[in-house]
Amino acid sequence: MNNSGNHIYVIFGASGDLTKRKLVPALYDLFVQDLFPQKFALLGVSRSHFTDEEFREAMKSAILAYKEIDDTTHIEAFIKTVHYHSIQFDDTSTYATLKQRLNTLRTEEKIGGNTVFYLSTPPNLYGIIPQHLAAVGLNNQSDGWKRLIIEKPFGYDLESALILKDKLLKDWNEEQLFRIDHYLGKETVQNLLVTRFSNGIFEPLWNRNYIHHVEITSAESIGVEKRGGYYDSSGALRDMVQNHLLQVAAITAMESPSSLEPAAIRNEILKVFQSIRALKIEDVKTNAIRGQYLESTIKGEHVAGYRNEAGVNPASITETYAALKFYIDNWRWGGVPFYIRTGKRFPTRVTEVVIHFKPTPHFLFSGGSANSACNQLVIRIQPDEGILLKFGMKTPGAGFEVQPVNMDFHYSDLTHQRIPSAYERLIYDSMKGDATLFARTEEVIEAWKFLSPVIESWKNDKEVPLYGYPAGTWGPENSDELIEEKDMTWRYPCKNLSDDGIYCEL
Ligand code: BG6
Repeated sequence: MNNSGNHIYVIFGASGDLTKRKLVPALYDLFVQDLFPQKFALLGVSRSHFTDEEFREAMKSAILAYKEIDDTTHIEAFIKTVHYHSIQFDDTSTYATLKQRLNTLRTEEKIGGNTVFYLSTPPNLYGIIPQHLAAVGLNNQSDGWKRLIIEKPFGYDLESALILKDKLLKDWNEEQLFRIDHYLGKETVQNLLVTRFSNGIFEPLWNRNYIHHVEITSAESIGVEKRGGYYDSSGALRDMVQNHLLQVAAITAMESPSSLEPAAIRNEILKVFQSIRALKIEDVKTNAIRGQYLESTIKGEHVAGYRNEAGVNPASITETYAALKFYIDNWRWGGVPFYIRTGKRFPTRVTEVVIHFKPTPHFLFSGGSANSACNQLVIRIQPDEGILLKFGMKTPGAGFEVQPVNMDFHYSDLTHQRIPSAYERLIYDSMKGDATLFARTEEVIEAWKFLSPVIESWKNDKEVPLYGYPAGTWGPENSDELIEEKDMTWRYPCKNLSDDGIYCEL
């Protein structure tokens, strides 16, 4: 980065978990790769009282805890860029002290006015902090750019998202806002674009003429862990579908952008959101399924049910499993169902996009409808990142038996290349001002619009069942009901990309 990229990176919520687990380790990785601008300072901001030295020690321990490091030379150099300032988030007068601190740092480090403000705080502060920053002029770009990074959730529903949007846009302009969806920072999600638009073989087939349906899964084996309090007011729909899964679906479905400019890519993503067929409230029952994990025994260990997790209401009706079926009403996708599901306490952690191709028009060979299962393109986001093509081959010997076989590529085969973390990529982009991989206001609003009937129905319609599923299983037993066609089920992916089935290694 050249001199014009010099800046101060301010993290609000600096004493929080995300800062320790993700943000500072990612910043450290960028530092090691020499991707910092010539002049740079990191300023941690939160309510707690720390001296610069104490905060540096805490960040050093975080880096050592979350990264495997033999040589600490880089840490010592990195940690010198770190500073700390304590404020009360809802007290305007303390923002004047923050401004003063920034001015001092700018003068001492000869940095100039460029500043990133990263809000890694509880969401109820997303309206408050930017407003206070603006009140003391810290949104003013006359002395250098100012960028605001906001973690999800962006609102709680359509109404609150619209209110937050108006609040932010009162003092900040859209170009200054960077909404993090860490899935967009995943190398394998970006590779979806490359797979689709740099290969002549996939794109001609990527439409309603050849694709039967698209299935997107994001499964987690963990439960809500220590985040019960947050999760219970959120649920799978808000936590994973509104943002991560709909973004992945949009990248799977979008048209080729005219260039790699952020606006070009984001315009195409937005068009997908605008083309998703609106659900009527009465259709929610048949197009969405919710579930909640129950206590169970996994590999000999007792696992608590969701309602018994710390911070969760014992009578909670919050879903830990959500599955949806929807259509994208445009020329490319007319009539092709998209199925998405996500859940906690699944048998394994896996995120993938599966393109199911249409079966051959005439089953020449034995296997009948089994042939329809043959052609799948699996784009594995995590783990065992890679791509798998499943197709039918002749079983050697007499006759024409067909068996499904795999052709696969694993990122791990590129042994010399490290896959950067999503936060590393997104933080770097925010430093450069590249908004391609950040969600734009309209996208977020469209996603909330689409989910509104589901949110409303799940909240108010007592007749919509909340199914229980034992922890360690693939969700409610009747989740296949969403997939209309006979003999079709969700895929049961395994830890290894090349395997699937209920009984594989997890
Ligand atoms: C977060 C959700 O956005 O994504 C978490 O709040 C979830 O509940 C996490 O566990 C999953 O991210 P990843 O990168 O582990 O798939």
